[in-house]
Amino acid sequence: MTIQENVPLAPLTTLQVGGPTRYLVEARSEDDVREAVEFARAKALQLFVLGGGSNLLVADSGWPGLVLKIAIGGIRREDQDGVVLFDVGAGVEWDGLVAQAVAGNCAGVECLSGIPGSVGGTPIQNVGAYGQEVSETIKSVRAFDTKADRIVVLPEGTCGFRYRTSIFNTTERGRYIILRVTYRLVAGGIPGLKYSDLQKHFAGIIGSPSLAQVRAAVQQIRQSKSMLIVPGDPDSRSAGSFFKNPVLSEAEFRDLSGRAQSRGLKMPSYPALDAQRKVSAAWLVEHSGFAKGFTMGAAGISSKHALALINRGSARAADIVRLKDEIQSGVEKTWGISLEPEPVFVGF
Ligand code: EPU
Repeated sequence: MTIQENVPLAPLTTLQVGGPTRYLVEARSEDDVREAVEFARAKALQLFVLGGGSNLLVADSGWPGLVLKIAIGGIRREDQDGVVLFDVGAGVEWDGLVAQAVAGNCAGVECLSGIPGSVGGTPIQNVGAYGQEVSETIKSVRAFDTKADRIVVLPEGTCGFRYRTSIFNTTERGRYIILRVTYRLVAGGIPGLKYSDLQKHFAGIIGSPSLAQVRAAVQQIRQSKSMLIVPGDPDSRSAGSFFKNPVLSEAEFRDLSGRAQSRGLKMPSYPALDAQRKVSAAWLVEHSGFAKGFTMGAAGISSKHALALINRGSARAADIVRLKDEIQSGVEKTWGISLEPEPVFVGF
């Protein structure tokens, strides 16, 4: 285990803002994780676990403790009567796993193509897009339990998965360090086509598209919304969606649709939203005076998707926070809804 000191964190995140961490350890094995935890304890340092850095906002002052960068690799495939288990190291790049699953003709994660970040981050916020969520395919999560000081295996049912939520980012936040994740995929399975953008893409095509075709379509749709990291595309210097889609009660939902209607506005509606009374945060942002391409100093909103706050080049964390506050108060004033940020805030 090598301990580095005063390491800038901005280059380790997709938003590329924020100050340095006091200490950084890159853990390539479960033993490294254990040692790093002991080091942090011995020095009374706060521990922050870093994966792919794609969903983070690091404060300009940085992190005063230890950042543990998880670099545990390895993809093990095991076939069991039509079901394929992929046991994957938390440090594996998520999209590399999706590519391998699709190439191996295994269904279940193809709609989650092109999502930046690492495998270990996926259970934490129950990563989802285009009609799939990892909770549908995760069989279990192997983690270091810092409370009990031992390695545990948490079956899917104990992870508390809901929209963008699990025990890892709510009730048990900070307790578990994810080491490996086992996904249960279906050999030769048919691709998921639940999302309207995807259905539109394949409209008129006879027969079911292949997993590879769905992967390519998702990549294309993501790129058109600048939700794919493309070097040189300033719109992709973001943390993906900066706000969660609000989940409303039946009464709140009716009230909001009524108010939209009375302004002559049609709120977006599609099954994923309707089923849970979710409303589109992007739509609320746009209808509160923040168009795509809105700028505020060095921070801005992507020109292709209203939910992606971007670093226009020289932004500091404070610029992103100022823009976030401005948007939240605009949406609150216009619609009475408080938007909840999606990224993890580090060092604030
Ligand atoms: N919309 C707008 N303005 C925009 C973008 C979208 O009004 O700039 C409206 C449109 O009516 C559109 C609807 O919002 O039909 C939904 O848009 P989109 O399909 O882009 O999905 P989203 O709800 O904005 C969510 C996830 C994304 C994920 C997409 C696709 C959240 C917070 N975001 O966005 O996830 O890729 O669905 O499934 O749930 C992320 O979490 O970082 C992320 C990128």
